[in-house]
Amino acid sequence: MVTLLENPLRIGLQQERTPEPQIIVIFGASGDLTQRKLVPALYKLRQNRRIPPETTIVGVARRDWSDDFFREHMREGIEEFSDGIGIEELWQDFSQGLFYCPGDIDNPESYQKLKELLSELDGKRGTRGNRMFYLSVSPKFFPEAIQQLGGAGMLDDPIKTRLVIEKPFGRDLGSARNLNRVVQKVCKEEQVYRIDHYLGKETVQNLLVFRFANAIFEPLWNRQFVDHIQITVAETVGVEDRAGYYESSGALRDMLQNHLMQLFCLTAMEPPNALDADSIRTEKVKVIQATHLADIQNLERSAVRGQYSAGWMKGKKVPGYREEPGVDPNSTTPTYVAMKFAIDNWRWHGVPFYLRTGKRLPKKVSEISIHFREVPYLIFQSAAQQTHTNILAMRIQPNEGISLRFEAKMPGPSLQTRSVDMDFSYGSAFGSTNSDAYDRLLLDCMMGDQTLFTRADEVEAAWQVVTPALSVWDSPADPASIPQYEAGTWEPAEAELLIEQDGRRWRRL
Ligand code: BG6
Repeated sequence: MVTLLENPLRIGLQQERTPEPQIIVIFGASGDLTQRKLVPALYKLRQNRRIPPETTIVGVARRDWSDDFFREHMREGIEEFSDGIGIEELWQDFSQGLFYCPGDIDNPESYQKLKELLSELDGKRGTRGNRMFYLSVSPKFFPEAIQQLGGAGMLDDPIKTRLVIEKPFGRDLGSARNLNRVVQKVCKEEQVYRIDHYLGKETVQNLLVFRFANAIFEPLWNRQFVDHIQITVAETVGVEDRAGYYESSGALRDMLQNHLMQLFCLTAMEPPNALDADSIRTEKVKVIQATHLADIQNLERSAVRGQYSAGWMKGKKVPGYREEPGVDPNSTTPTYVAMKFAIDNWRWHGVPFYLRTGKRLPKKVSEISIHFREVPYLIFQSAAQQTHTNILAMRIQPNEGISLRFEAKMPGPSLQTRSVDMDFSYGSAFGSTNSDAYDRLLLDCMMGDQTLFTRADEVEAAWQVVTPALSVWDSPADPASIPQYEAGTWEPAEAELLIEQDGRRWRRL
């Protein structure tokens, strides 16, 4: 029997591949992401022989840096944020492929200069016109950069040129549609790679394997057996030094509309026909299109926002969000959001999905938990201290793994039951997962595999789901009306109510 995972025609989610030599042009190269994530990820790919030695990186930014300065700055990044340089000769060889081209996003001359540099490098480094343009700039510059690249004819070749766009893709449905229009004017969808780094995580990719390579779970994966599903992405960090971005974004735009929505899709979607990019993305779009906030008429019954106030984290006093540097003391930006989704389809009708994410929560943990229905009739009533239901928990990070909670008889002469966990841990089964999402995503993009990137209609559908909340929350509000939660605690009381009104509770993680 040929299964989806064995199908030799599959394109996506493959292993052991090497892309063609190419130039990776990073706009916003003086920023954090380039030094912390992108270049360390490319170096690691080179160390692991996943990309060819001709691979060339051109950093573009305003600052007047030289090639040598850029190389040194990247070396520091690899040493500080990754596994280090390792063999010195390899770094020397890799760094000879790093170049810096100062330029302004809105200046056509900068693009002409860049274009000349790229064709010169094609000759020197054998990159054959293959290019990836990576937009790691503030989202407000996306349209300008895309139009300029298009205007300079740098995206004309749909096979050899690719455009990578970091999140956030738009700030609401309207702006996402506009940005898609700008993109579609200058290139084809097959050239566009919208990044959501959650899709690069091993545990997130494993959701597909877990669901569709095992025969025993899928028959339970529906309204007949599942009571409800919870998706939690909790962070301990606060806004850090990102107030400039975060103030106009907040937890809904920064996390829920993209990262949590991806976890939601992979949990709720139907099996794809094949493992290629479009089959998977089509199923994701289908499920998002069937999804809506559970009670749109009474928003507070299906969407709650919150903001952290001063509190204690690991024995240290931390300021409230409104006291953080760069944050408006009357800010209404949410640092926490919880939502209840309903899906109008045969599989999930009547099964609520509760999603929550926040900063300054007690623990860094991302988890999807499937809460199964109660047994139809409990014959152990006198023995059970409390009725517990089975829970399948998929831990995305940290302590990556999967556990199944079920009831067991406690040893002893009397009939007492207790919940126990059957545990799979990535660490003990495979050793460390040892992979940063960016390695995988950059490699896939270099290979032309769009499976782990978001398609235009998917991004728009995801905005559509959260639009009823955004349109209310974006209107001016009395700062006193924003529910507060103390830093280091789980959520505002309103978010507890969101789930308790249905006779359920958030899982304590
Ligand atoms: C980013 C958000 O996309 O994801 C950050 O902008 C957030 O605010 C981060 O902290 C979380 O990513 P991870 O991989 O640490 O869960």
